[in-house]
Amino acid sequence: MPSFPEIMHRTLFRTLSLLSPQGQGMILRRYFNWKHRSPDPWKLATDSYEQQKYLSTLQHLPPRAYRRIIEVGCAEGVFTHALAAAYPDAEITGVDVSERALARARERVNGNERVRFIHADILTHRPDQRFDLVFCSETLYYLGRTDRLRRASAQLCALLEPDGVLVAVHPWPEATRLHRYLDASLSRLEEQVYTATARPFAIAVYGTKPA
Ligand SMILES: C[S@@+](CC[C@H](N)C(=O)[O-])C[C@H]1O[C@@H](n2cnc3c(N)ncnc32)[C@H](O)[C@@H]1O
Repeated sequence: MPSFPEIMHRTLFRTLSLLSPQGQGMILRRYFNWKHRSPDPWKLATDSYEQQKYLSTLQHLPPRAYRRIIEVGCAEGVFTHALAAAYPDAEITGVDVSERALARARERVNGNERVRFIHADILTHRPDQRFDLVFCSETLYYLGRTDRLRRASAQLCALLEPDGVLVAVHPWPEATRLHRYLDASLSRLEEQVYTATARPFAIAVYGTKPA
């Protein structure tokens, strides 16, 4: 059962998604810049729950020599940084709608030339390349109604190389709704649900469907 603050949170972002994608993107940008008025608003770098979730996510990745990795909704780059350490030969891209978050993400990676950050909205972003590993964690619930989830899922799928892997991590059981359009477009390789925690979550791993 979602808590009252969660219901209010989802209602707010559903209402925003009544706007055009461009209008929604403008408000999301302002909201997340405000949210990042102080560093690390979700305590992603220090909360043991978040750290454990990152470790679990890395453990679920199919073992491959990934060359190009993207994290969509990277915030201040905590997980992006972990990806750069886990895959020392890969080029890593972080995308976020908040410039303020990205400025801190750039500081975090401290001039590592393999890591770049792009200011973009997943709903309207036109990528200039494709990736063999795509992440989207704790972000889809900000996109609101069904049609925006469908659009965001299509945008995430469009980032994938033909044999790429996409990993989505979201609260359980809401992940069922949030991952619905990924389930429709991709082959689900694995889903692990972690319930022995105050905030249950699901890690879903997808591959492209055979042509
Ligand atoms: C809760 S944080 C998740 C951070 C990170 N993925 C993690 O799990 O540690 C959500 C991030 O998604 C970003 N975001 C929300 N809507 C977005 C959109 N439409 N396009 C790109 N980023 C977005 C926010 O700015 C925020 O930094």
